Amino acid sequence: MDTCCLTTVLTWAAVSLFLWYIISTVWHYSLFYRLGIPGPFPFPVVGTFYCIMRQGLYNFQKVNYERYRGHKVYGIFDGAQPMMVLRDLDMIKDVCIKHFSCFVNRRPFALQPPADHMMTMLKDDHWKNVRSIVSPAFSSGKIRRMYPGVTQSATNLVRRLKESAANGELVELKDVMSRYSMDVIAGAGFGVETNSHEDSTSAVADALKEMMNFSGMILFITFLCPWVINVFNVVGYEISPKNSREVFFSFVDAAYESRKQETGGNSSKRNDFLQMIIEAQEDEGSTANDNLSNEEAKALKMSTPRKPLTRLDYQELTYLDMCVNEGIRMFPPGVLLDRICNKECTVQGVKIPKGVGVAFHVNALHHDPELWPNPEKFDPERFTPESKANRHPVAHMSFGHGPRNCVGMRLAQLEVKMALAGILYHMTPVPCEKTVYPVALDKMQLKALDGLWVKLEQRK
Ligand code: HEM
Repeated sequence: MDTCCLTTVLTWAAVSLFLWYIISTVWHYSLFYRLGIPGPFPFPVVGTFYCIMRQGLYNFQKVNYERYRGHKVYGIFDGAQPMMVLRDLDMIKDVCIKHFSCFVNRRPFALQPPADHMMTMLKDDHWKNVRSIVSPAFSSGKIRRMYPGVTQSATNLVRRLKESAANGELVELKDVMSRYSMDVIAGAGFGVETNSHEDSTSAVADALKEMMNFSGMILFITFLCPWVINVFNVVGYEISPKNSREVFFSFVDAAYESRKQETGGNSSKRNDFLQMIIEAQEDEGSTANDNLSNEEAKALKMSTPRKPLTRLDYQELTYLDMCVNEGIRMFPPGVLLDRICNKECTVQGVKIPKGVGVAFHVNALHHDPELWPNPEKFDPERFTPESKANRHPVAHMSFGHGPRNCVGMRLAQLEVKMALAGILYHMTPVPCEKTVYPVALDKMQLKALDGLWVKLEQRK
C-alpha cells in the first residue's frame, strides 16, 4: 500500500472512530430523554456532576427535588453512570423491599483493599453470605449483651466531659464523640477495652480519623472514574495514609489473634461480633454458603463502627428516642443512598433498565415540607407513635430500608442514647464564643465547617 492510500485509510479510521464516539456518547447521555424522564442537562464524562460541583451536594438535592416536584423520578448522570432519583415514596419502598431482587447491590465505589471488601461494597451472593453471618450479631439479644461494653465507653466519655466542665474548657463534640464511637467499636465489637479520651490509647482513634480524611479531589476522581483506582494500585498510590491504616489494622489483627488464642478449641465462649467472624472462618458447616476469606474477615472487622446510667432502661427513654430520630432526620449521615438495577424492572409504572442506578436523595426527602411541615424546625413530636403511623413508612430514611438497610441500627441507637442520657444527666450544654449556630455545613458531606463547639455546665 502506498503512503497516500495508507493516509486515506488512517484518516477514515480516525473519522469513523470520532463519529462512533460522538454517536455513542449522544446515545448514552440521551437515555433519560428517550425514556421521557426529566433531569438536568448532562455533559460527556462529567454527566450532571458539574451541577454538584457548582452547587454542592445538599443544594443540588434541594434544588432538583423542588424543580421536579410532580414527577415520580428525575434523571442525572454521575459521570457516565445514569441514576434515576426517586421522589415517589411508593417507588422507594418497592425498590428497597418488593423488588429487592432487582436492586441488591449499591453502585460500585472505588476503594483500596481491604476497604473494597467492606460489607457496603459487596455484591449478590457474596453480600448475602456475609450479611447472613453478620446479622445475628446485631439481634436484640446480642445487643443486650453489648450493654456492659457500651456502658463502660459511655462512662469514660462522661468522665472526660465532666473534667472539661469542671475546668471550664470548651469542647468540640465531633472529636470527642468520634473517640467514644471508636471505644464502642473496640468494646462491643471486639471485646477490647479502650479509652480513646486518654492519650495512651488514642492512637487508634487518631488513625481511624486520618483514614477517613480522604482528599476531596481524590474522592471526586474515583467517583467519576472508578477504574482510576486500578491505576493507583499499580503505581502504589495510597488514597488514605498508609501509617494510619497500619496502626488501625494492627489493632484489629491483635484483637483477632488474641481472641483466637483465648477461645482456643472452644469458640463458643464469647458472643460478640468478632466471635461471629472467627466462627464463620473456622466452621465448615456454617449457616452461610461459604466461609469468609481473610480479606472479607478483615474488611468486616473494619466495618464495625462505635453510656451509661445504671438501672436506666434505655427502651423506656421514649422522648430521647424521638429527639435522636429528629436529629438524624435533620442531619442524616447517609445523605445519598443508592442501588443498581441488575435486571430490567417496572416499578410503580416506571421502567428501570438494567445497569441504571436508582438514588434516594435522603436530605431532600427529610426536608420536604409536604412530608415534614416546617422542616427546619427541630421538633421531636414528629416521632410520636401517632405521627409515625400517619406518615409514609419510608419517609424517614436515616438507616435505609429493606434487606440492605443498616445492620448496626440497634447498636447505633443504643450508643447514641447512652451517650446523650449520660451527658444530660450530669451536664447542660450551653453555647460558647466558638459556637456557630445554625451549624454551617460543608457543601458535599455532613461535616460542620467550624466544628461543634459547646461549653458544658455541671448540673447542681
Ligand atoms: C447513627 C449511626 C448510623 C447511621 C445513621 C447509619 C446509617 C446507615 C445507612 C443509611 C446505611 C445504608 C442503608 C441502605 O442502603 O438502605 C447503612 C448501612 C450499613 N451500616 Fe449503618 N449507620 C449507623 C451506624 C452503624 C453502626 C454502629 C454499624 C455497625 C456496628 C453500622 C453498620 C452498617 C453496615 C455494615 C451497613 C451495610 C449494610 C449492607 O450493605 O447490608 N452502621 N448505615
